[in-house]
Amino acid sequence: MTTETFWNDIYRRGSPTTSGRPGLALAQFAGPLSPGSALELGCGKGDDAVWLARQGWTVTAVDVSTVALSLATGNAEAAGVAERVRFEAHDLATSFPTGTFGLVAASFLHSPQDWPRAEALIRAAGAVAPGGHLLLVEHASRAPWSWSAEDTRLPTAEETLEAMRLSPDAWRIRCLCPIARLATGPDSQTATVTDNVIFLQRTE
Ligand SMILES: C[S@@+](CC[C@H](N)C(=O)[O-])C[C@H]1O[C@@H](n2cnc3c(N)ncnc32)[C@H](O)[C@@H]1O
Repeated sequence: MTTETFWNDIYRRGSPTTSGRPGLALAQFAGPLSPGSALELGCGKGDDAVWLARQGWTVTAVDVSTVALSLATGNAEAAGVAERVRFEAHDLATSFPTGTFGLVAASFLHSPQDWPRAEALIRAAGAVAPGGHLLLVEHASRAPWSWSAEDTRLPTAEETLEAMRLSPDAWRIRCLCPIARLATGPDSQTATVTDNVIFLQRTE
């Protein structure tokens, strides 16, 4: 099964509606930034892209799933921000959007397929303009309804940072921390989970 097929199946089975809310960490860490151009990787149904557009960002939002992108396009149109969000289909294992951005964000860019995730994150860092920010939000614990296998080991924030091999001279660490959040599952069930936040500013 390809990455696209896997995620298209997930999005076809799920609800087409969205929470209409941004991720907790995105709102917390990107909220205070001055809007400019943003790149979102693994945008899913587009809640974060819509929120960024509402804050004044011009957004390029990327996903491998054409089903997700179609739902996200509908959500951006319904929110009245379609002209501020450009959706692009990419399998980040093999292709990456062009350009540099004031903010590059990826929330829960996980996939069960064996794929060069660290390489994609290195490219994500390379797409941050000088002075801009990189925000990665990752699962540090697994919700009971997660698709990911229980024995899958989730990297720590430090391991993810290390895998990106960034020059310490060129980046300022603004947060490398876990945050707890109440997550809602596909059947409206809830559980407290922990996410890792890697929030960096490119200094040169
Ligand atoms: C767990 S979901 C997170 C969605 C959204 N960011 C959120 O916070 O709700 C992971 C997303 O990453 C996308 N994705 C996974 N692997 C990808 C890849 N290789 N290239 C592009 N997108 C990918 C999936 O299609 C899915 O939308």
